[in-house]
Amino acid sequence: MNVLVIGGAGYIGSHVVYELADAGHKVTILDNFSTGLHENVDPRACLVEGDMQDHALVRSLLKKGDSCDKHQPFDAVFHFAALKAAGESMTHPEVFTEANLIATMHLLNLMSENDIRRFVFSSSAAVYGNPEYLPIDEAHPQKPINYYGYTKLAIEHTLEWYSKLKGLRFAALRYFNAAGYDVKGRVRGKEQNPANLLPIVMEVAAGNRDMMQVFGDDYPTRDGTCIRDYIHVSDLASAHLKAMDYLVNEDKDLVINLATGEGYTVLEVIREAEKVSGLSITRETTERRPGDPADLVATSTLALDTIGWKAQYSDIHTLVSSMWEVYK
Ligand code: UFG
Repeated sequence: MNVLVIGGAGYIGSHVVYELADAGHKVTILDNFSTGLHENVDPRACLVEGDMQDHALVRSLLKKGDSCDKHQPFDAVFHFAALKAAGESMTHPEVFTEANLIATMHLLNLMSENDIRRFVFSSSAAVYGNPEYLPIDEAHPQKPINYYGYTKLAIEHTLEWYSKLKGLRFAALRYFNAAGYDVKGRVRGKEQNPANLLPIVMEVAAGNRDMMQVFGDDYPTRDGTCIRDYIHVSDLASAHLKAMDYLVNEDKDLVINLATGEGYTVLEVIREAEKVSGLSITRETTERRPGDPADLVATSTLALDTIGWKAQYSDIHTLVSSMWEVYK
């Protein structure tokens, strides 16, 4: 297959590009390197440096097809190029409107114009909002509590309409907490100024940050800290390939959680990192962070039933040790 991966130099996108190239697919990356890293680009992929908000560029790319050699039309588009800081989405919604909503809507129109009918979309657990029951399945009510989550949900709704109206076939993959690094050690670029738990823990262990904060230890959980469903990025990558195969072979849409059904607390993550690194992680407990639910875990049985996917690398040891390989 000839595929376009928008955001293919980013954290999740770069892992998916490696998997796609391993499976023999021809990959073109479009990335503006706002957060993507050149060192994470698979050398087998062909690279277009540019912004997906540059509609003229996207139009010509989709029209021309891959820019590597033969200019064959794209069979599918993967889209990872979005903003993801939920807190910032509440203070600067306009930026999220442009980068997440408008850019994606334009992309869908340009795909339609060029008769490209397969789309693999990075959705998020944030489409659900506060859990009304656990574990979260795909039928859980969708009431995002931040604008970031709303942008993902609005795009999912547009995809449903374009499926009906334009014959688009889409996979919306609702990631829970992505973490870890390529189990084969190929992606090694570190996220700058991370806001998520695991890279912060790693930076403290590696001495790039003096200390970290644990946001609240009075939650109704086994040790008082929040529980999250961490999913290894190599598991996410394999799910993307299976999702594309599903669109091709079944010619049906797919909306699935990518999760493990098992959660770890903040302190369990920190302790595992101390064990793996042999170092102590300096921390202080602070107030709860606004908007954090105590517990967020999800079932992925639908992913197993539809695309035969199950997490393989998302146990806490593999998650943490694959990251320490990069950060140590
Ligand atoms: N945490 C800390 N200290 C830190 C950072 C995080 O204690 O310095 C805690 C948080 O309070 C939370 C847990 O670690 O309990 C995980 O926090 P993250 O920020 O890593 O992840 P979130 O669960 O808040 O958010 C993730 C994605 C979002 C997505 C959301 C969906 O990062 O993009 O899941 O539920 F929207």
